Amino acid sequence: MIKRKISISLVFIFCIVSAFSQSEKSNPTTQVRDRLLMDFGWRFALGNATDYSKDFTAETGYFTYFAKTGYGDGAAAVQFEDRTWREVDLPHDWAVELPFSASASHSHGYHTIGWRYPENSIGWYRKKFTIPVSDNGRKISIQFDGIQRNSKVWINGFYVGNEPSGYASSVYDITDYLNYGGENTVAVRVDASVEEGWYYEGAGIYRHVWMNKTDRLHVSQYGTFVTSELNGENAELTIRTDVENQYAKSAAFTIEQTLIDADNRQVISNKLEKRTLNGNLQKTFYQKIKVDKPILWSFEIPYLYKLKTCISVEGKIIDTYFTNVGVRTVRFDPDSGFFLNGKSVKIKGTNNHQDHAGVGTAIPDALQEFRVKKLKEMGDNAIRTSHNPATPELLDVCDRLGMLVLEENRLMGIDKEHFDLLERFMLRDRNHPSIILWSLGNEEWAIESNEKGARITKTMQEFAQKIDSSRAFTVAVSGGWDNGSGKTAQVMGYNYIVQGDIDEHHKKFPWQCGIGTEESNTIGTRGVYSDDINNGRMAATNRMPENVGTESGWKFYAERPFLSGLFFWTGFDYRGEANPLSWPAVNSEFGIVDLCGFPKDIFYYLKSWWGTKPVIHIMPHWNWNGSEGKNIKVTVYSNADEVELILNKKSLGKKLMDKYGHLEWDVTYNPGSLVAKGFVKGKLTVTEQIETSDAPAKIVLTADRTQLKADGEDVAVVNVQVNDLKDRLVPTADNEIEFTIQGPGKIIGVGNGDPASHDPEQYVDTSDRMNISDLSYQLCDTFPGSKMITLNNNDSLWSKAFIKGYGEYDAGKNIILMGTFNLVDFTDKTIITLYAKSMVDNQSVYVNGIIIGKGLKRNDPNQVFILDSKSLHKGKNRVVFEGKPFVKKTEYEELNTDPGTIKVYNSAPQWKRKAFNGLAQIIVKTLKNKGEISLTANSSGLATAILKINSTNANSRSTTDDIKKK
Ligand code: GAL
Repeated sequence: MIKRKISISLVFIFCIVSAFSQSEKSNPTTQVRDRLLMDFGWRFALGNATDYSKDFTAETGYFTYFAKTGYGDGAAAVQFEDRTWREVDLPHDWAVELPFSASASHSHGYHTIGWRYPENSIGWYRKKFTIPVSDNGRKISIQFDGIQRNSKVWINGFYVGNEPSGYASSVYDITDYLNYGGENTVAVRVDASVEEGWYYEGAGIYRHVWMNKTDRLHVSQYGTFVTSELNGENAELTIRTDVENQYAKSAAFTIEQTLIDADNRQVISNKLEKRTLNGNLQKTFYQKIKVDKPILWSFEIPYLYKLKTCISVEGKIIDTYFTNVGVRTVRFDPDSGFFLNGKSVKIKGTNNHQDHAGVGTAIPDALQEFRVKKLKEMGDNAIRTSHNPATPELLDVCDRLGMLVLEENRLMGIDKEHFDLLERFMLRDRNHPSIILWSLGNEEWAIESNEKGARITKTMQEFAQKIDSSRAFTVAVSGGWDNGSGKTAQVMGYNYIVQGDIDEHHKKFPWQCGIGTEESNTIGTRGVYSDDINNGRMAATNRMPENVGTESGWKFYAERPFLSGLFFWTGFDYRGEANPLSWPAVNSEFGIVDLCGFPKDIFYYLKSWWGTKPVIHIMPHWNWNGSEGKNIKVTVYSNADEVELILNKKSLGKKLMDKYGHLEWDVTYNPGSLVAKGFVKGKLTVTEQIETSDAPAKIVLTADRTQLKADGEDVAVVNVQVNDLKDRLVPTADNEIEFTIQGPGKIIGVGNGDPASHDPEQYVDTSDRMNISDLSYQLCDTFPGSKMITLNNNDSLWSKAFIKGYGEYDAGKNIILMGTFNLVDFTDKTIITLYAKSMVDNQSVYVNGIIIGKGLKRNDPNQVFILDSKSLHKGKNRVVFEGKPFVKKTEYEELNTDPGTIKVYNSAPQWKRKAFNGLAQIIVKTLKNKGEISLTANSSGLATAILKINSTNANSRSTTDDIKKK
């Protein structure tokens, strides 16, 4: 067995890193490299972690793929019947489709996945694709940007490798296994039995899949690295290009670099002529270019250039590779914090995991953008990708929108596997201007406060500096700050003020820079103002110990110039870790926004002090029926210097706001209106009014975007709000709302931010596969007719079929083969299909005595029969195949003994979701045809809402499905 996973250090493969390059369409006259999206038209089914027979018998063959190359068996085999599997597009997370159970993993949000649920923890994916004859001679690789978790991949039955981590991009060279001018099959087995994180991770191929095609002489995979230095207003860029020659002979070539600005104008270029490289070698080439007065990349103006790298041979371009370039410098200082382009910047950040309401970890690119925009809206200027390397498209969004990133490695260690993972993600991501700091690990409790931690951190840091010396490294530490990783990390990552004395540590290690890698938020449930722990909800108030929360955290960091800033735990809520609660709570409540991105009140505290615009926000809502005459604490978040609170037109007084503070009033509850007015230097600058609402009366739908691209990828995030007749939010509404969609779009998930909801977030088609079993046979001179085939199986004429393979039968006779399949449940809407295989010549097929196929040719691949549900019944049903016994055409022919399979398909039930404290969310994805998408929301007693979304023609990305055989 040869393990073929390609380590990036060996770099045999090619692709383009940048978002820009992804939109490049294949054009044979100018395009010499293809990067094809491979997200559409996969088949998916659950296997089994403990029962091989339910795992599509993969790895059970006499010779497996470990014994003989190309011997992928079961679902890894080319000829495996996968039409009974469900059709899915990527990205896909099957964990979010699974039900909840109190006995499932707290970390994974009580979804029934993991080692306790072997029947839910293996996912198989298969896809067919065509490779044209004209590709023969090129180098071709398949790139998975993230499979959760432990994946094995086969191409045409050839095992190409295994990637245990759920957070790594893995690239496999498949050049030599392909059928040029024919059909090819990729099969992927995903094993999510073991958790890598202690938070929800999802399961499946949850990031994009690409196919890369290049000339054999090309820029290596992730083969450019561009860094900038600023001299006054000008910049010097150092470009490092790894070129790979995978021809046997030496090659002579030119490398030309062209810097292009955001308006597609050439800025400057540089050529390296007459370079040579011997066959099967890789080499790094260096070039420097000077850029006069570049527009610098910053979070206010995230200006991106692109670098076009062309490799030419004898004047003909044979490879073009694009890299996004943000001209900027970053620096951490032990005394004065972080500097971007030489300017001091306080990092105002949030930690974020990678799941969203409705879709789990399968986040479409447009949803990545929605999430980053939501965080930016409150003045968040940085995110930490806790606790793993990010999805590349998230980093693209951060580059484009201006969001600083602390990107984190998954597991600490100094051996081949650790270094390989670290190197692969750093090579993949080091050109993103948004990344300002690398994290080598988080809260590694076995080592963080001892000498081993100090050693491991130092060794990893030295290794990683060879990959990128333009950025610094941190480790997030939760205790023993002076004794372990905290002794050697370039930038000390403090996880929580309460875990030690930051000032003391800084005094002891004056050379070391510092950052708050995690800090406590004021946690709680959106719209909930008193604890309801038995139902999994918490009021958003500070918890033990005293003075822990967003305000004290921010004040601490804001006051200390030597600290570069902080990352609150967390920006978005995430599934799992419902700490300090547990079941029935299933999601964390650490977020500043909930799982849908609906702001909790504390969002406005940060928006006040992190943002630049006037803010005022009143908490709580003003619907306290039954509390008339009682005292309610009213909090106002604002950046005004003075705030007046007014109840039902009566002033409750003005109060002065402290810097980074908030204001509180004790108010005797009376329904009506509560108004907060914010004054700056005596002038009214901002007002908020909340009112006691009436009963729920209508649904309001609002999309983040109503113009989408008809590319099968774009999404609209639709917020659902329950209002009263006067169009005021009903902050306690929990109506169940049903959704239907018409036009070229589909719903891909629903949510409402309720951390204790056990309702489905996905309504998907189901596709069950039934085997045909108990095959028996009899030989006869003439076929006795349909009556006979309904006879009982125990008739003495019948013998068990194929005990030792196909066997030899009297050629003059007919053979009748009879088998059964067991239908558990179905309705008249269920579509039941028989995918039959030839077991006899001139085959006729009967189901429960009714003929469905006649005179079928040997090995006819199209024996697909949709069965009439009226002819079927629950329990045993009978299939009969009749014809002439096969006779081998060649000595080596394997005669088929497999009758085929039955698919039981039920389309997705009606999508629905309850509002939670007045709000819910629904995510709509486009199909590939343009048109108007119409989303309707209904609920009994409420006025219906209809939202129209326009899906218009767009340059879809090139996919592997566009390819013809030629
Ligand atoms: C931190 C940890 C996070 C999360 C958080 C919950 O210690 O790094 O991943 O678990 O605690 O409070």
